[in-house]
Formats: sequence, structure tokens, C-alpha cells
Amino acid sequence: MRLHVVDHPLVAHKLTTLRDQRTDSATFRRLADELVTLLAYEATRDVRTEQVDIRTPVAATTGVKLSHPRPLVVPILRAGLGMLDGMVRLLPTAEVGFLGMIRNEETLQASTYATRMPEDLSGRQVYVLDPMLATGGTLVAAIQELIRRGADDVTAVVLLAAPEGVEVMERELAGTPVTVVTASVDERLNEHGYIVPGLGDAGDRMYGSA
Ligand code: URA
Repeated sequence: MRLHVVDHPLVAHKLTTLRDQRTDSATFRRLADELVTLLAYEATRDVRTEQVDIRTPVAATTGVKLSHPRPLVVPILRAGLGMLDGMVRLLPTAEVGFLGMIRNEETLQASTYATRMPEDLSGRQVYVLDPMLATGGTLVAAIQELIRRGADDVTAVVLLAAPEGVEVMERELAGTPVTVVTASVDERLNEHGYIVPGLGDAGDRMYGSA
């Protein structure tokens, strides 16, 4: 597994406002959206392209366009949904799948409660979206499902990560073609499974606590 922490002043600025408990839901959603677009720029650095011949008003030349099969973007419900627009802004031709994952609060085991994506992901580059890499259980289960379906290159875009979650991903996904792109690896997880200093419950901050 590769880990890429995006070091950029705009990323740090937006992340600071996201962390601030005074930031309201509407501002939080807008900033998360902008932050994802900045992370998406880095996350798509290795997106596959193919050469094409074109003609400008002046001359013939060659360029590139995204290859087929098209990349697949998979937000993990619920909070990953708040990252979808920011990602597809840079990849408007991507296909979108959905993965609903829930964590048993006692066993902390993640399981799938809803899936909507192609059964066969052979040869596909997949971008999976989840704002918080905390214990790592949800992302590991999601990525294992994508790899089981044949995905041969998976990039997880997360706003924030905990070192404990990164370690779990490295252990559980050793030898798999997985990259994690994040704005920060924070200090630690607390006893309630929250990232410290973190930003609180990402779903609640985006959508309220209903
Ligand atoms: N999920 C969240 O929304 N926040 C955390 O800090 C950890 C997991």
C-alpha cells in the first residue's frame, strides 16, 4: 500500500476550517467538496490515458484522453457521498458505484448493507471515497470487495487518517495495488474510535446528526 499525504497550503487552510467546531454544516460541505477536488488532483496522477491524434486550428498534434474502461468512483455511504461531487468534477466521465458499509459498534467489524456497482471490475481503476480512515475496518472491507470483483488499481481518497488505521491498511492490504491519498495523518484514535484532533463525526458535520 502506498500512502500519499498532500502537502499544500490550500489543503491545510481548508482542513483547518473543517476541523473548527464553529464551522456550520453548509460551510463544512462546501469546504469538504473543495478539499476533495484538491486531493483528487493528486489521487488521479496515475489515471490511465491513451494517446490521441487531434487537429488544433493551427496544426495536427497528439494528446491524451482517459482510457477505457472508464475509472469507477465509489463513495462509501453515508459520509463518502459528501465527497462525490468534488471527485467527479475532475473525472466527469467516470462511472459511479455505491457501497453502503456499517460498523458493528461492539465488535467494530464492518459489513456491507448495500452495493450498487458492476460485478466485474477487471482492468478498472477505482477511486473509493470515505472521509475518515479511523480504525481502517470499513476501508479494508470495502477495498477487499473491490479487489474480489477484479479491480486492479484502487485509490482511497480520505480527508483525514489515523496512524492506527494506516497501520491496519498496510497490514491487511499488503501486496495489493492500493494507494491512500489524504490531507493529514493525525495523532491517534481516542477510546471512542474518533480521530484526534480530527474533526468529529464527518457524517454528522456534513448532514446533521439525524
Ligand atoms: N468517523 C468519523 O466520522 N470521525 C472520526 O473521528 C472517526 C471515524
